[in-house]
Amino acid sequence: MPDSVREYGLMAPGLPCFQNGAFPLFLAPMAGVSDKTFRQLCKEYGADVLTTEFVSAEGIFRRNERTREYLEFDEIERPIGVQLFGADAGHMAEAARHVIDWVRPDFIDLNFGCPVNKVVCRNGGSALLKDCPTLQKVAGTVVSAVAPVPVTAKIRIGWDADSINAVRVAQLLADAGIAAITVHGRTRAQGYSGEADWKVISEVAESVSVPVIGNGDLASASIVAKRRAETNIAGAMIGRAAMSGPWIFSQTKHYFTTGELIEAPRLSDRWNLIVRHCQLVVNDWGEEDPAIRSMRARLMAYSRSMPEAKRLRDKFSQVSTLAEIREIAAENIHSSARQNIAPTIAELVPL
Ligand SMILES: Cc1cc2nc3c(=O)[nH]c(=O)nc-3n(C[C@H](O)[C@H](O)[C@H](O)COP(=O)(O)O)c2cc1C
Repeated sequence: MPDSVREYGLMAPGLPCFQNGAFPLFLAPMAGVSDKTFRQLCKEYGADVLTTEFVSAEGIFRRNERTREYLEFDEIERPIGVQLFGADAGHMAEAARHVIDWVRPDFIDLNFGCPVNKVVCRNGGSALLKDCPTLQKVAGTVVSAVAPVPVTAKIRIGWDADSINAVRVAQLLADAGIAAITVHGRTRAQGYSGEADWKVISEVAESVSVPVIGNGDLASASIVAKRRAETNIAGAMIGRAAMSGPWIFSQTKHYFTTGELIEAPRLSDRWNLIVRHCQLVVNDWGEEDPAIRSMRARLMAYSRSMPEAKRLRDKFSQVSTLAEIREIAAENIHSSARQNIAPTIAELVPL
């Protein structure tokens, strides 16, 4: 019996998404990106499991209204987890209980990977990779506070290149009753630069009996399949690639079932997705100008999957209306069709 089971008195409840050999695809939690609208679009494209943007346990503990908004989700998003960050075990446990009372997520995810100074300097996120006793205490206390709701954790491979400790951390988390562990294959010091280290992810997957979800640089269906074949991961988490093309989920699933790589959707369909995403955000904000401005960074991400990306980025940096986006779409489709890259504008669905 693991120490934690003795200490905390329970066995870890599992996540149903791993049952019967399934290999679930997770949308990565991304602050400022994986909001309700984007999560639902990714779900349409085949994401199996969603997670909210990270939420401060202290904010929940203090019943901060803004924090509560981040917790909202619709039933169709299930299975969905709420991701919490914080460093105080008691506050984290109480925050997790509040979250379960308020929105009843399918699981709670603990963030032990955030590299941002504002979080790390308060000992949250990846700071806990340097403080294993506190990390294990936070995990064990939350697990027992919310049982039988499963608790998962997301870690990086270590604080820096000299302190890669993901295997040890994962063992502590599994012993604390954590139901699944996502490993982002970078250190805190790397931020988002350099390459994800899949060797360490693989070592973690070999060393614990709970499911390990691999994360980092999964940029296409074939890369996900390669990582799946090379390692013992039980699922994959996709972040930035979904921002520029959420169809990566359906492409990956198609590849898993048929062994065939399928093309990205037609250009007109990609534009329809972009326009719809913008329209949904405008509906949500209730005001067009601030809503579209808030979409500029997202449009930049979409441009990576489009022809004439540089030109699009210049234009996206100035948009503030839906009409402008539709105009850019029409021009991009025309120009690509002229160069024989894409179908005609008639395929752009009117709003
Ligand atoms: C804009 C952005 C915001 C992020 N916010 C979070 C977050 O709130 N919680 C978290 O655990 N990871 C966060 N991450 C990290 C991602 O979940 C993921 O681990 C990382 O992007 C590597 O995966 P990828 O190569 O598929 O993008 C964020 C990443 C990005 C790019």
